[in-house]
Amino acid sequence: MKIRNALVATTALCAASAVSAADLEVTHWWTSGGEAAAVAEFAKAFNAIEGNNWVDGAIAGGGGTARPVIVSRIIGGDPMHATQLNHGRQAEELVEAGLMLDLTDIAEEGGWRDIVHPVSLLDSCTLDGKIYCVPVNIHSWQWIWLSHKAYEDAGVDVPTNWDEFVAAAPALEAAGKVPLAMGQQSWQSSGAFGVLNVAIGGVDLWKQVNVDKNAEAAASPEMAEVFQAAADARLLSAGSNVSDWNQATAMVINGEAGGQIMGDWAQGEFAVAEKVAGEDYSCLPGLGVNEIISTAGDAFYFPKQDDPEIEAAQKELAKLLLSKEVQVNFNLKKGSLPVRGDVDLAAANDCMKKGLEILAAGNIMPSGDQVLSPDTQGQIEDLMVEFWNDTSITAEDAQARYADIIANAD
Ligand code: BGC
Repeated sequence: MKIRNALVATTALCAASAVSAADLEVTHWWTSGGEAAAVAEFAKAFNAIEGNNWVDGAIAGGGGTARPVIVSRIIGGDPMHATQLNHGRQAEELVEAGLMLDLTDIAEEGGWRDIVHPVSLLDSCTLDGKIYCVPVNIHSWQWIWLSHKAYEDAGVDVPTNWDEFVAAAPALEAAGKVPLAMGQQSWQSSGAFGVLNVAIGGVDLWKQVNVDKNAEAAASPEMAEVFQAAADARLLSAGSNVSDWNQATAMVINGEAGGQIMGDWAQGEFAVAEKVAGEDYSCLPGLGVNEIISTAGDAFYFPKQDDPEIEAAQKELAKLLLSKEVQVNFNLKKGSLPVRGDVDLAAANDCMKKGLEILAAGNIMPSGDQVLSPDTQGQIEDLMVEFWNDTSITAEDAQARYADIIANAD
């Protein structure tokens, strides 16, 4: 993995040194079909302005691979001109170290506090009153994606909630299907656990643990039920031998698997495969138990450069990312919700409409990226991937280790 990262970093370095003044190297981890289609909208809009050139620095392997490359380039004095990160605490230390461009002037000029909704997205870009990033979307983890073909082949109804999903699993297995598609990377195991936590334990329990860092809540009987549900879910995913999240989504698209717990970026894959929400697949927010979305997502940061021309181009890109047209074109392909409410989303599909309704009703919660430090997130991810892949670790053992992590969390 280290060698691979080094190779990716070297490739990106060559690209960076080949650019001229108005060329911007932009790093991100959007490499699946849907993600690539979405980020192409950003590039198209930027390149449409005379003299601009988007130098694409896609890093394969997902956020878990890309983030260390991005952070080490910035710390190591080889910053890209712009980069995706999840809005929240991932860039906290980089901002504190003075490595990121302050965008407060253009944010005030553009009235970002009035147009970004919910404004908590902008708060996650703010440190000591200054704004350091542009939120570009709202992505929520709180979904399960279901394959109509898989359930039809198995002769059972498409589930409408988590209990029905679990009850339908034997029929799927009898039909040679994997009930729950899961990629093997740690962020995926941890993400799925978080979704089960909210659906089974409720959002208040999730907040006690993740926002208040209450170790007693993490060790509580209510949380034990969540761990038991996760232990049951890991058995349902036993036949899912894929690594990347979009490979797991492909299993749902092809009807090899019943469902996948995954963020709404999965929608981008269904769109590329020309599948129709409500006909070919269903989506259940909050696993059909409690409809809520987390206001996670992506933001763009602009590492400081000692070059006024580059800085001007960085700010131009920052403004563009929030423009109405770019917000609509990008988010329709990405499967995420726009960060501004004053845009025309007539083209939204059924799943996106559900997300918009939940947002309008104010049923939102923060994301783990917003409330936990990257270090704590990493510890939880390590535990979850181990638990998910090793059935000799009991729900009780995993819960005890989890409560320890929460006791020391920041
Ligand atoms: C990002 C999404 C991305 C997903 C999978 C998440 O961290 O917020 O934009 O699609 O990772 O790559």
